[in-house]
Amino acid sequence: MVKICCIGAGYVGGPTMAVIALKCPDIEVAVVDISVPRITAWNSDQLPIYEPGLDDVVKQCRGKNLFFSTDVEKHVCEADIVFVSVNTPTKTRGLGAGKAADLTYWESAARMIADVSKSDKIVVEKSTVPVKTAEAIEKILTHNSKGINFQILSNPEFLAEGTAIEDLFKPDRVLIGGRETPGGQKAIQALKAVYAHWVPEENIITTNLWSAELSKLAANAFLAQRISSVNAMSALCEATGANVSQVAYAVGKDTRIGPKFLNASVGFGGSCFQKDILNLVYICECNGLPEVAEYWKQVIKINDYQKSRFVNRVVASMFNTVSNKKIAILGFAFKKDTGDTRETPAIDVCKGLLGDKACVSIYDPQVTEDQIQRDLTLNKFDWDHPLHLQPMSPTTVKQVSVVWDAYAATKDAHAVCILTEWDEFKSLDYKRIYDNMQKPAFVFDGRNVVDTEKLREIGFIVYSIGKPLDAWLKDMPAIA
Ligand code: UDX
Ligand code: UDX
Ligand code: ADP
Repeated sequence: MVKICCIGAGYVGGPTMAVIALKCPDIEVAVVDISVPRITAWNSDQLPIYEPGLDDVVKQCRGKNLFFSTDVEKHVCEADIVFVSVNTPTKTRGLGAGKAADLTYWESAARMIADVSKSDKIVVEKSTVPVKTAEAIEKILTHNSKGINFQILSNPEFLAEGTAIEDLFKPDRVLIGGRETPGGQKAIQALKAVYAHWVPEENIITTNLWSAELSKLAANAFLAQRISSVNAMSALCEATGANVSQVAYAVGKDTRIGPKFLNASVGFGGSCFQKDILNLVYICECNGLPEVAEYWKQVIKINDYQKSRFVNRVVASMFNTVSNKKIAILGFAFKKDTGDTRETPAIDVCKGLLGDKACVSIYDPQVTEDQIQRDLTLNKFDWDHPLHLQPMSPTTVKQVSVVWDAYAATKDAHAVCILTEWDEFKSLDYKRIYDNMQKPAFVFDGRNVVDTEKLREIGFIVYSIGKPLDAWLKDMPAIA
């Protein structure tokens, strides 16, 4: 029986391994992590991450051919294939701070693999890492190998949160990069055989190591660029009276452009986009390509601009002051159907409003109060260090309250900001909300989920990203 071990039981490692176990009953899969609470949660009924369909998959395989354990060394030692899916934060200190990837966790995982291995292994890079990381890892492994043969593969994961299980069941493609040597090719075939249990052969792409590593950074940069492009258009739409949804629809009808990923928003979030682009920028700079670096940097600049534009719009509309005003925040996760808040635009928007002395009342169906308080007190880039290394009881922000329903959040509020596109926000009783709010009552829809006209009929002053402005908002222009 082939044995797989995955180091890192996070958003990527957990769901990916669960699906491999489900689709490959002949393979034994162990997911290991140094975090005891995380592994305990994976072994309980309350999984550590919320992902539609995940519970079901885990229930079907756990205890049969899927195991979660903190005994990292034992499972690595026994495995034929070791996936490494640890976190790769942005460096906060030293060379490349604020841009380069911090490979501390990766390096310590690699050294541990070299230490405990007694048989040949295929080591698979699963977390997104800078191009040429595989080469560095290969060096660590071979210089400490005691005669053991390690083959390094890059197999980046393209799943999106909220649809992880769907994406894993039917991936657009699986990408496997390896050395162009006979040993490298043999390793590629071994990993290909795992995915071939359920992925059609034509969707499994094989490349050299560097192409695989770079493709992942490139794919995320292209996706983020689409959002910054449509968000840049949204600002122009507001200035001209065009409607960004109409523009995006018309543009997306061109088959060369395509209709997906063109929703204007308060900004993109998530653990990947910003981090991977910063990483790409750093790599370009290190390779003497400042023009290319500058080009990609702009994608992040527009995203930051979009978030601050939103805050400015809120403040400007409310007579240039939100001091002591209650503002309801609906949605805190970085997108719907996940409880993940990493790099969520809600953090920047809330921090912006708090900076102007607002009192925010936050409701999100999946995010806990602890998480929100932690997010609003953490420094930039600190989020990607494992939870167990972070202080567990951060100072709470007094102007913040977290409530468990949208009606409590909006009661007596001056304004509502919708920051995540949860389906339930489409069907709230907005008349009831309006009746319980201060007047004038504002809705700032950062995800374009509400029916603007209907809300205006109720009496709200409504701002929707990239949509023609209310007369009120035209009179109070936001300065970005
Ligand atoms: C992304 C990539 O999609 C995935 O392939 C990669 O493996 C990891 O990074 P993820 O961050 O989980 O996945 O979610 P995604 O659906 O890409 O959304 C990222 C952010 O962009 C979210 O904040 C989302 O709300 C925002 N977004 C997305 C928009 O603002 N508009 C869109 O049209 C699409
Ligand atoms: C373009 C638009 O495609 C068309 O919809 C619009 O009405 C007018 O402008 P055109 O300039 O005639 O059409 O040709 P197009 O095929 O878009 O190519 C434009 C340039 O981009 C060419 O120099 C072409 O060689 C280049 N190109 C195109 C690339 O370098 N790479 C590509 O992948 C595609
Ligand atoms: P991703 O979104 O890429 O899956 P996460 O931060 O959710 O990233 O998960 C990474 C996991 O890797 C964390 O649970 C962390 O505890 C774990 N981890 C980091 N370093 C090691 C290590 N050396 N050995 C085992 N697990 C590790």
